[in-house]
Amino acid sequence: MKQVTILAIESSCDETSAAVCLEGKILSNFIANQSVHEKYGGVVPELASRAHMQNIVPVVDAALKEAKCRLQDVDAVAFTQSPGLIGSLLVGAQFAKSLSLALGKPLIAVHHMQAHVLANLIDDRRPAFPFLCLTVSGGHTQVVLAESPLSLKVIGESIDDAAGEAFDKSAKLLGLPYPGGPLIDKYAKQGNPLAFKFAEPQIPELNFSFSGVKTSVLYFLQDRQREDPQFIEKNLADLCASVQHTIVQVLMKKLKKAVKQTGVNRVCIAGGVSANSGLRNALQQTGEQLGWQTFIPAFQYCTDNAGMIAITAYYKYLAGEFAALDISPAARAEW
Ligand code: KG4
Ligand code: ZN
Repeated sequence: MKQVTILAIESSCDETSAAVCLEGKILSNFIANQSVHEKYGGVVPELASRAHMQNIVPVVDAALKEAKCRLQDVDAVAFTQSPGLIGSLLVGAQFAKSLSLALGKPLIAVHHMQAHVLANLIDDRRPAFPFLCLTVSGGHTQVVLAESPLSLKVIGESIDDAAGEAFDKSAKLLGLPYPGGPLIDKYAKQGNPLAFKFAEPQIPELNFSFSGVKTSVLYFLQDRQREDPQFIEKNLADLCASVQHTIVQVLMKKLKKAVKQTGVNRVCIAGGVSANSGLRNALQQTGEQLGWQTFIPAFQYCTDNAGMIAITAYYKYLAGEFAALDISPAARAEW
């Protein structure tokens, strides 16, 4: 039987990415980052769409070349349908639709957050079903119970800011450029995680709230800077380590609760914040202590990437879940 080749495109926010997957194995995963947003302290939607338009052809070309794949070998074209910035999604969706029409090959629409979870199925060492996944990105924080590749249930989520936002907004208060999450991670390595204490919001069930963390950091810094205007500079590493510790503690507490509630002890993390070394270490240590089997995607599959879109599309292809050419991207979408 012919092996299935899928070309996938991801353009939901500020990364333009294309990947080729052969029978569930990722052959290439090309990602173009957009540095244009740095000086604005956040993603500017209009600039993101324009950069996607410039990047998409070279990025798709590069992914095909690296995979040694010709367009005529492609069996289906996949794209991120939602959620995301509507202008950014439109670029990927229109490109994928045009390609699907020109090649006469089916189109597959993928939910970005399902794809983050299924990034855990890319490596050879992968979780058996059912498993739990803590998905932590710039826009979402969710606990997901995965019963099969296409049966994923959100059993907890943030009622306000996402974990990535808590990292980025705290970083901004510390004077760090956007996106600040990776920089907090970097400086935290030299700091004391218990140096300062920030508010840990108490939210029922498996839900999260992170807007209080940002506020707690803001008031703390305002007080200390009033006494010593150089307070942040002098304590940057300890501040980063303490902010990171607070966020990771909140996440790990809910993950432990989710394992207790479901009885499922295969535990994964996914999304941009799963690149955080504090969270990765905490998951590993907790896993060892409590006898969980833990899984973390390789770095390139944690932040936004088309590899995760390709693997999700592969399972949709096997299930015959194709999209019509008049399907629209959606900025927000339920599962
Ligand atoms: O999944 P992602 O690439 O995009 C969304 O779908 O939102 O996640 C981006 C988020 C940003 O908030 C970024 O600061 C955060 O992931 N992030 C990190 C790290 N790497 C990326 N946060 C903390 N530590 C990191 N190493
Ligand atoms: Zn994402």
